[in-house]
Amino acid sequence: MRVQVAIIGGGPAGLLLGQLLHRSGIDSIVLERQTREYVLSRIRAGILERGLVDLLAQAGAADRLIAESYSHDGTVIAYNNQQFSIPFSKYVNKPVTVYGQTELTRDLYDAREAANAKTLFQVENVVLNDLKTDSPSVHCVLDGREITIDCDYIAGCDGFHGVSRQHIPASVRKEFEKVYPFGWLGILSETKPVHEELVYANSDRGFALCSMRNENLSRHYVQCASDDHVDNWSDNAFWDELKRRIPEEFAETLETGPSIEKSIAPLRSFVCEPMQWGRLFLCGDAAHIVPPTGAKGLNTAASDVHYLYNALKQWYADKDHHAIDTYSETALKRVWKVERFSWWMTSMLHRFPEHTEFDLKIQQAELEFLQSTESAQAALAINYVGLPY
Ligand code: APR
Ligand code: PHB
Repeated sequence: MRVQVAIIGGGPAGLLLGQLLHRSGIDSIVLERQTREYVLSRIRAGILERGLVDLLAQAGAADRLIAESYSHDGTVIAYNNQQFSIPFSKYVNKPVTVYGQTELTRDLYDAREAANAKTLFQVENVVLNDLKTDSPSVHCVLDGREITIDCDYIAGCDGFHGVSRQHIPASVRKEFEKVYPFGWLGILSETKPVHEELVYANSDRGFALCSMRNENLSRHYVQCASDDHVDNWSDNAFWDELKRRIPEEFAETLETGPSIEKSIAPLRSFVCEPMQWGRLFLCGDAAHIVPPTGAKGLNTAASDVHYLYNALKQWYADKDHHAIDTYSETALKRVWKVERFSWWMTSMLHRFPEHTEFDLKIQQAELEFLQSTESAQAALAINYVGLPY
């Protein structure tokens, strides 16, 4: 089998790249380890930057998003039982879009099927070969059968636990990592959101976030211990803890109800350099991870896809390989700025076990400065709505 671009991983990054390539007449195959149903069972964040929305429209996969999504022009920061809103439009002329990642992934799968583009599910033993030649290939096993796919380029979109990154030699690969000493316990519930915008709360009991999917579907989180377990948390225990961490005016009106999903996610910052090796290009979680505090995971996968798609389009259109040769350098410039923002939001809003009284005073000063300083709010807004590509 031969394709121009082999894409490892059928998550948002792989599917978005595949759809953009297809719309430019560049054929690809997506190799996914799981089933489509499994991929779509994952509950992930739901805040989209304008750049991602524009890419989805370019990919012909934005119709449902346009019909069903919400636009948010700001976010709320809460601390010491008080809260203030940061109005994005006062500083940048870009709202953010609220639309679940699961729905976005579903739309991309539907678009790929409508385009009759090739996707193989439940592939095993993916191995990438001859990456430093002009004829790389992918080997994998499907239903017990060995398959070889010859291609021009390979996009490693297989997430943090994928195999692509491991194909960059350890002697070449440099990994930067910060593991946070806590996790996020999240629930999805068919309850009314606590506020029309998201509420990020710093409290002396730890971080909390009140988010949403639509006017009858809420997504809430509380910071928990790294070794905590979802079985330790009844729904009532979760709601009681959330109420303790958000301002009373929100706690009093918080609608509670049964969780339809409950899980704990670890928090880490991670970057792999370089993001390319010969004909292999890493996109999304395969190359970097951010703590979810800035809602940047999916949005940074999107900027990688933007750079790689345009580099491949340039190559196939006029054999100009400059963007291909500089993909990693270009992508990493934005990746590190997003890593910084996500680390800053996490540091400002969470309780760290090692915090001293001095650290807590510094955190309070950070929050007061943000509340009272327009340029600080502008900096948050510029990063939150999405840095330019
Ligand atoms: N072979 C084939 N597919 C694989 C392999 C493999 N060896 N390993 C992993 N995969 C698949 C996973 O099953 C998953 O569907 O690659 C896909 C990677 O998707 P994501 O992990 O969602 O990563 P990405 O597409 O970069 O999207 C980033 O998704 O996980 C969230 O927080 C993350 O919001 C961010 C976004
Ligand atoms: C979510 O809605 O799941 C969400 C929103 C914002 C974040 C993280 C998660 O920063």
